[in-house]
This record gives sequence, C-alpha cells and structure tokens, in this order.
Amino acid sequence: MATVRFDKATRIYPGNDKPSVDQLDLEIGDGEFLVLVGPSGCGKSTSLRMLAGLEEVNDGKIWIGDRDVTHMSPKDRDVAMVFQNYALYPHMTVAENMGFALKIAGVDKSEIKTRVADAAKILDLTEYLERKPKALSGGQRQRVAMGRAIVRSPQVFLMDEPLSNLDAKLRVQTRTQIASLQRRLGVTTVYVTHDQVEAMTMGDRVAVLDKGVLQQVDTPRKMYDHPANLFVAGFIGSPAMNLIHVPVDEGGVTFRSGLHIPIERERLAKLDGEVVVGVRPEDLEPAAEHEGLPVTVEVVEELGADAYVYGTPMEGRTDLEQGVPKPFIARTDGRTPPAKGSTVYFKPKADHVHVFDPATGERLTD
Ligand SMILES: Nc1ncnc2c1ncn2[C@@H]1O[C@H](COP(=O)(O)OP(=O)(O)O)[C@@H](O)[C@H]1O
Ligand SMILES: [Mg+2]
Repeated sequence: MATVRFDKATRIYPGNDKPSVDQLDLEIGDGEFLVLVGPSGCGKSTSLRMLAGLEEVNDGKIWIGDRDVTHMSPKDRDVAMVFQNYALYPHMTVAENMGFALKIAGVDKSEIKTRVADAAKILDLTEYLERKPKALSGGQRQRVAMGRAIVRSPQVFLMDEPLSNLDAKLRVQTRTQIASLQRRLGVTTVYVTHDQVEAMTMGDRVAVLDKGVLQQVDTPRKMYDHPANLFVAGFIGSPAMNLIHVPVDEGGVTFRSGLHIPIERERLAKLDGEVVVGVRPEDLEPAAEHEGLPVTVEVVEELGADAYVYGTPMEGRTDLEQGVPKPFIARTDGRTPPAKGSTVYFKPKADHVHVFDPATGERLTD
C-alpha cells in the first residue's frame, strides 16, 4: 500500500498555451478513496494519466510512497487503471481477460489461476469465467474490468469514470459495490468522475478541479457545508445552491429577518459594495411578508416528501445562465406547496448562510 502525492504537477499539451493541469498539489493517504471531480475538460483524466505514467509531466513531481515516479514508465509504477470503456478483449474469456496483464508480466500459470479465481469470487464472477465479454451484461463487464485491476494487487487503483457506460440504476448499485470493495481491499484509490453525487457518496475525500486548477480538497461533509469558493458552492449539491448578489452595509450583510452576517472590516473594504450570498434550497424557511425575500413561484416540483419551488426573487440578482437569470430554488414541505404564480417569502436559516467575494469568488465568512 502507498500514499500518492502530486507536487505542483503540471501538464501543458503540445500546441496549447494554457496548462490542462496547473500546479496540482494533492496528497492522498494510504488506503484512502479520493475522488477527483469537476466539469468536462477540467483536467481530471489528465491528472490521472500523469499518475499512471500515460501522460508526460511538464513541471512538478509525482510520488507514490517514497518513490519519485515522475519519469518512471507506467509498468514500473505498480498502479492499475480501470477505464471508462473497459476495453475488454472480445476474443478472450473473462478468465483470460482478467489474467492477461499477469500473463504478459510472466507470472506463472497456477499463480494466475489462483489470483483470477480469488478476484472472481470477490466480484461474483466465478460462474462467468469461461464466457466471452459479449455474453455478459453491462454490469458484469464492468466487474471484469475491476477484476483485471484487482488481480494485479497494485499499490494504487486508478479509475476514470468507470460507471459512465451503465444505466442510471446500475450506476447507483455499482458505485456502492466499488466503494465497499475498495474499503475491504484497503488499496489507495484515485477515482475520477464528473458526477458530483458520485463523488460525494463514494469518496473519503473529494478534490474539485476547475479549468486545470484545484479548488478544494475536503471530506464530502465539509465540502458541502463549507465550500471554499463560488465555483465549489455552485458545483456541489443538487439542486444547486442559490447564489444572489446583494449590497453590503458597513458591517456585513443584513437580511430582512434581522439576521446579520458580519464581514471582517479589511475584507469589506476590498469589496465593490456587493457580495454573493449563498443559501442551499433546504436552508430556506418560510417567512412573514415583512421579514422574507419575496419570490414569484414559477414551477413547483412535487417529490412526495418535499417540493422544490422554482421562482424569481424580487430583490437581489442571480447570475445568468444562457442569457436568463438562474431560478431561485427553495425546498418546502411536500404536503403544502405554494401555488404557481403566487408570491412567497423566504428567510435563510442562521447557520447556513455562505458569503463570497463576487470578484475573486473566495469565501468571506468562516
Ligand atoms: N492529447 C491532448 N492534446 C491537447 N489537449 C488535450 C489533450 N487531451 C486533453 N486535452 C485538453 O486538456 C483539457 C483537460 O482534458 P481532460 O483531462 O481530458 O479533462 P476531463 O477528463 O476533466 O474531462 C481539455 O481542455 C482538453 O481539451
Ligand atoms: Mg476525462
């Protein structure tokens, strides 16, 4: 087993002027399950491929345990990668697919057989060992791909969107299986996904990337309760956090309900008279007319236990998305949702208000 450390690791693809991964600093503990998440094109696969040795590192270093692997060939790094499109060999049986890397490495036949049998048992694939991939379901193929990594008993597992070819229901089942399998095996794992729900449910810690730059690394709980900047605030959580531009007064932000969020004098002085206030849909509560933010209800999404109200706030300003203001979203009781077209009033719960600098995106409150 081993730790993994990215030390200002940078990748600039030939012909590009900007790095696709820019000075990535990230330490992953021994046996930890770390999820790297972010929108498409943010540099997740590039980061993983640098760790695997499949992509050159232009600046900085990468360590596995106490070995500097920055310029080591992939086969010497003792990592096993599971790709998005499994890449199973169609002409080989499940057993042959799982044992192939060992065969190439010159491991003897009986040893291969034992390791494949062990992995098959863990993955519930024993009865399929003699089948070809085309005679398997999507979920079984995915497990074969996992099996290929497991038989190598590497120091580190690398997984690049390994669930993206499965349908929604299977994806949910499989993510639980992978997370519990990883905990059982205790192998340090770096898992890449663009899906923040996957990241939050699977990872011991989550690292959020945007445009090649690491934004925050934290436990799912801390990431959700304490986003470090506007990007993370908007990216983590579904439906998304409400982010509204509001004016500041001399001490901070004051809400109609009387709630006052102080901002340090020094930080306040640097602002242009405005902050972005973030409140999650579940952190809003109904308020009386004189103490709440008035919202015109446009859509009510009834989910049974809860309802989500989508509307337009009559004060403050939400950012635009494709030219139209983002809706304001509030979770309300499912049995008594407000009517479409009505005006309702909301106030934030005191301990769940986030405040950001609109210019830098940085969090302003502790
Ligand atoms: N071989 C390549 N040559 C040039 N640019 C690349 C190459 N591979 C990826 N990129 C660019 O690097 C950025 C990050 O890509 P990638 O790591 O694949 O993102 P992700 O996996 O997060 O979707 C993107 O802007 C992408 O266009
Ligand atoms: Mg990718």
